[in-house]
Amino acid sequence: MSNNAAKHLFIWGSVLCFVILIVLTVDTMGKLDSRAPEITAEVDAGKKVWHKYDCIGCHTILGNGSYFAPDMTKATVRKPKGYLKKFIMNPRAIRPDAAMPVLGLSEKEANDLMAFLDWMSKVDTNNWPPPPILAQAAAGKAASAGQVLFQQHDCAACHQIRGIGGVAGPDLTNAGSKQPDPEWHIAHLKDPAALAPDSAMPAFNELSDQELRDLAEYLVTLK
Ligand code: HEC
Ligand code: HEC
Repeated sequence: MSNNAAKHLFIWGSVLCFVILIVLTVDTMGKLDSRAPEITAEVDAGKKVWHKYDCIGCHTILGNGSYFAPDMTKATVRKPKGYLKKFIMNPRAIRPDAAMPVLGLSEKEANDLMAFLDWMSKVDTNNWPPPPILAQAAAGKAASAGQVLFQQHDCAACHQIRGIGGVAGPDLTNAGSKQPDPEWHIAHLKDPAALAPDSAMPAFNELSDQELRDLAEYLVTLK
């Protein structure tokens, strides 16, 4: 190739790459708005509360923060809002040995924070963060009907079994030894607060009788 041809290749190649960069940038900027719901005054106030209490000192959000506590990017997708609000106002009322401190949030701060976390959860993040790999592997082919329901309803978001899962609710590794009666589990799943006063566990009363029985039969095998 002559020097002249190399010069042209360099110049026009650079121009082409630059044009592609501009087109892709404009395209992305045009799509950004439709990837997140509108930011209301509450969402804005909630983000300030998030900074005021340095939540990011323990939690991650969109990959930023520290890995001491659960990720908050999809908090309201994984758990009911009522439960999350109760938790942030007083973690120890839900789990006496919760590691999260009682931050002393006011009712308004908690409401604003929930608006912010709910807004965050609705942002289209291309399915990020991915679901836990170990939990997926645990739901292998040999899973019973109850085990599959346990996965589908994301009970592991709050409960651990043999070290895998969340810590908002009690460890269920020995749930069957603690409560060997499937009828107890069915009643508890339908209305947790009826059996555990002040329970923060959501009611699973939309499940069919068969599904409740399958889940209960799985729970009593945990020993
Ligand atoms: C000192 C560290 C720390 C700070 C600061 C902190 N958290 Fe937490 N948080 C935790 C830990 C640890 C957990 C896991 C449960 C437990 O053991 O307490 C948790 C759990 C939670 C949960 C329940 C998550 C779930 O999946 O059940 C929510 C919601 C939450 N935090 C929100 C917040 C918000 C909002 C702030 C700021 C206002 C905040 N946290 C500040 C440590 C912290
Ligand atoms: C948002 C968090 C949350 C989710 C989701 C959740 N639980 Fe719970 N669970 C709790 C809390 C908090 C308790 C303790 C209070 C109580 O007993 O109701 C609990 C208690 C339990 C207990 C009694 C354990 C004991 O040692 O007394 C069982 C069994 C149980 N849950 C099963 C399940 C199953 C099965 C699912 C899914 C269908 C599920 N939970 C979903 C929070 C949750």
